[in-house]
Amino acid sequence: MKLCVVGTGYVGLVAGTCFAESGNDVICVDNVAAKIDALRQGKVPIYEPGLEELIRRNTTEGRLTFSTDLADAVRKSQVCFIAVGTPSGPSGAADLSAVMAVGREIARTMDGYRVVVTKSTVPVGTWAQLHAVMSPITKHEFDIVSNPEFLKEGAAIDDFMKPDRVVIGSVGQKAFEIMRELYEPFVRTGNPIITMDNTSAEMTKYAANALLATRISFMNEIANLCERTGADVDQVRRGIGYDRRIGHHFLFPGVGYGGSCFPKDVRAVITTAREHGMEFPLMAAVEDVNEAQKHRLVLKVVDEFGSNLRGKHFAVWGLAFKPRTDDMREAPSITIVEGLLKRGGTVAVHDPEALGEAKKVFGDRVSYHRLNYEALAGADALLIVTEWNEFRRPDFARMRSLMRQPVILDGRNLYEPEVMREHGFAYLPIGRTPVRVATA
Ligand SMILES: NC(=O)c1ccc[n+]([C@@H]2O[C@H](COP(=O)([O-])OP(=O)(O)OC[C@H]3O[C@@H](n4cnc5c(N)ncnc54)[C@H](O)[C@@H]3O)[C@@H](O)[C@H]2O)c1
Repeated sequence: MKLCVVGTGYVGLVAGTCFAESGNDVICVDNVAAKIDALRQGKVPIYEPGLEELIRRNTTEGRLTFSTDLADAVRKSQVCFIAVGTPSGPSGAADLSAVMAVGREIARTMDGYRVVVTKSTVPVGTWAQLHAVMSPITKHEFDIVSNPEFLKEGAAIDDFMKPDRVVIGSVGQKAFEIMRELYEPFVRTGNPIITMDNTSAEMTKYAANALLATRISFMNEIANLCERTGADVDQVRRGIGYDRRIGHHFLFPGVGYGGSCFPKDVRAVITTAREHGMEFPLMAAVEDVNEAQKHRLVLKVVDEFGSNLRGKHFAVWGLAFKPRTDDMREAPSITIVEGLLKRGGTVAVHDPEALGEAKKVFGDRVSYHRLNYEALAGADALLIVTEWNEFRRPDFARMRSLMRQPVILDGRNLYEPEVMREHGFAYLPIGRTPVRVATA
């Protein structure tokens, strides 16, 4: 099949590459010429494990190409995917200007039947709006398909190649058949392609992200209650996770969710509800709890060192909003580092992949370190913000020898408090009993 994917970000680039990998001819389109130039030279503008190799193979074999010329791509494609950004606008509603601009351009240039697929996360009712925008511009037939994407950054290739399910929303039988043919190679193991109407497909994506965000905020509140009561959230997490009605996923407390999806999608659900005359207090609470949780680690720092951090130096491990990505959009690390700087502290940061993104955020206000141990030199405390695998089994003796004070504030509960006591660290996890006095 011949396809184009408009928007070569985390979703569009992965989707386009994976569709090419399954044998389709794919043109990936973006309006940022520098991005397309880089991709043509084999340079991948984002970090996503396995992506570079897959792009190389499919470009070499001629199935995957890159272009800024949307009109040309539309003329050559039977199916056009829209995977552009839908960031929060000033009111909290998703900004659909890029989606609609692409829709208009597709309508202007299509020369026959097209399937137009929204893969971007779009509010309920966007499909009808897009249809209304495109219809007056073209005399050709087209179907709008709502095909939300559920991939996780850091595991995006695997998620796309082996999705738990594929959701396809449409009203046209022809479009369902084309989409089924396209996705069949990805569901060989029996996972379902679920077909439904467009409105339900759009709602499904928001419901999924809203529920996942709710689990995170719920566990963060439970963790905070554990701290006050002396319960251990890690025991509690295991105690509830074996209940099959609950399950183990998304029960880890931490420093709050970030990234390009949960924060904006939670805000969009609240706004969509309001637009339909309904308050959604549960979602508003999920957002409030998350905002507060992003400050928890700095409040713990203040408890330990006082509110004036002048003369104190901090190391931060992990800046990306989660491991295996370089994405720092709405990352809790930003709130945390800014909180330390605002109180007069100095900060040395390390992240295996996100230092480039971090420089755009912090400029020359912090020092950057490619090696995690280097960031520890002279630190009064280490703050662990992202749970990269390489932080799980560090050389604690080496860490102690580098730091001015052996204090770890662990926003991801990577270590056992008792083990940290043995290593001579003061250790402050989330929702677990802290080790306050270094005994070794
Ligand atoms: N990132 C994720 O993990 C994820 C997962 C599922 C769904 N989504 C959704 O997918 C959509 C895209 O997310 P992303 O993270 O890939 O965003 P992104 O910002 O990484 O990529 C968007 C791309 O679209 C391009 N673009 C914007 N306007 C354009 C236009 N008019 N013409 C051509 N290109 C244009 C941008 O240059 C950029 O390269 C969003 O709606 C998001 O909510 C994201």
